[in-house]
Amino acid sequence: YKVVPITNDDIETVLSFLRKFFFRDEPLNLCIGLLDEQPTCEELEKFCVEPIPDGFSLKAVSPSGEIIGVCLNGVVKRSDVDEEEMECNNAKFRKIQELLDKVYTEADIFGRFPDVEKFLDIRVASVDEAYRGRGIAKALFDETRRIAGENGFEMVKADATSHFTALAVIKLGFHCIYTLNYAEYKDEDGQVIFSPEDPHTCVKTFVYRIN
Ligand code: ACO
Repeated sequence: YKVVPITNDDIETVLSFLRKFFFRDEPLNLCIGLLDEQPTCEELEKFCVEPIPDGFSLKAVSPSGEIIGVCLNGVVKRSDVDEEEMECNNAKFRKIQELLDKVYTEADIFGRFPDVEKFLDIRVASVDEAYRGRGIAKALFDETRRIAGENGFEMVKADATSHFTALAVIKLGFHCIYTLNYAEYKDEDGQVIFSPEDPHTCVKTFVYRIN
């Protein structure tokens, strides 16, 4: 396989790939049954597609030209104003959005790293089930880090909701700066919101500094 950039022309193909895999099997999507009542989730589609026009997203392509993995990377700048997000109509995806917002606030990248002006955010990583455990995610993250350096980013960041993403970025020398255990993340009634299957026990924010 080869790792190449995703262009705006790829958006539909990437979405059908994600509907088959990520929308169903990412640990949080899976444990809340995001697609139990519907064939897709428009809010998640928007979340996934949004970073593509930034031009730093990557795909792993098989020799026959099929997408076997994607890594959707978005630019985040210190000067970005926190947009008032539209109220999310999908109750399940809203829960995920709220978790990710909390993680982003508490990881506090720009507060923690005063010299970082912009970082590349690994927003979504997904590999075809038939090709997992062969280093494709690692190859996508490694190339992400390379293009980040080439384009003047000071840092790459990933929120690993999957233990396997965490393993991959640790191998590449990323550092964990924040952990939230799913068992400790509860609603107003004290009920745990996400209970993914083992080994996915927490979401961790990882960063890699580029010199
Ligand atoms: N069981 C045990 N270990 C595994 C497994 C498995 N099923 N799959 C991967 N690993 C390990 C690998 O051994 C490797 O660890 P190592 O370097 O210590 O050996 C590490 O996880 C990464 O392996 P890769 O082969 O590079 O990862 P892969 O290509 O399989 O892709 C991914 C990982 C993207 C998480 C894939 O499992 C997937 O698509 N999962 C469903 C969607 C998902 O959870 N996406 C990530 C959410 S977080 C985010 O998007 C930023």
